[in-house]
Amino acid sequence: MAKIVGGLNVTHVPYIGRAIANNTQQDPYWKPFFDGFPPVHAWLDKVKPDVAVVIYNDHGLNFFLDKMPTFAVGAAPQYNNADEGWGIPTLPPYQGDLDLSWHMIDALIEEEFDIVTCQEMLVDHAFTLPLELFWPGRHPCPVRTVPVCVNTVQFPLPTPARCFKFGQAIGRAIESWDSDARVVVIGTGGLSHQLDGQRAGFINKEFDLMFMEKLITDPLWVTRYSIPDLVELTGTQGVELINWLTTRGALLGEVAKVHANYHVPISNTASGLLCMEAV
Ligand code: DHB
Ligand code: FE
Repeated sequence: MAKIVGGLNVTHVPYIGRAIANNTQQDPYWKPFFDGFPPVHAWLDKVKPDVAVVIYNDHGLNFFLDKMPTFAVGAAPQYNNADEGWGIPTLPPYQGDLDLSWHMIDALIEEEFDIVTCQEMLVDHAFTLPLELFWPGRHPCPVRTVPVCVNTVQFPLPTPARCFKFGQAIGRAIESWDSDARVVVIGTGGLSHQLDGQRAGFINKEFDLMFMEKLITDPLWVTRYSIPDLVELTGTQGVELINWLTTRGALLGEVAKVHANYHVPISNTASGLLCMEAV
């Protein structure tokens, strides 16, 4: 059966793509952010995943407000990136893993998660930049991928409790996949940020740090909050942290922190990085 080697959660700000393209990772603005990654690179060298299940939210590249699934799973042989208008380079295609995609889809529907299946799917910065951060300069990306989208954009959003259960169902699906593959689960987005309205620029460091700690020790802690609570506590886009919670659910049992980093701000966002492993 397949093995889950661990989980990685990370912020997905488009501006990161500009820093990589301009090779400014060591500039004072960027250094505290990029310095977070070498320990994760060393961990990936050690655990050697073959496949990444990437849990993220699409920002209008693949889905738009007219048709918005709560949860969607990719089932394509390849996933293409496309210009989102951020002025960052478009990245080369990502290889899919059709066998894992369809196994996950079967298992999730069996567990009563009525996901949308996508045999064509464009992937946006929330998918491409985390892979670029974890495997810098590796084109094509050295892991096969299964994209999983969670709606964090158009209300109503799935509750944190629902996301945690969805993550657990993803974890059970991966572990029941008849394969020798090693799978890393990646969650992207957050932490606190708000890009629009009167609270644009809003950051909540105290909540973010508590969330990162509780994700390791007591992930159900965050399910006490409703989506409106999380919007108030973390900003309209900070609510993307439900992708981190989904990823934590997929790790199923107890986990230990391998590495973490937190830095404010990157663009308008409190940037976070968390690497977790089963104990
Ligand atoms: C920013 C953050 C995001 O999560 C995103 O999807 C786009 C932009 C930002 O802080 O600039
Ligand atoms: Fe985002």
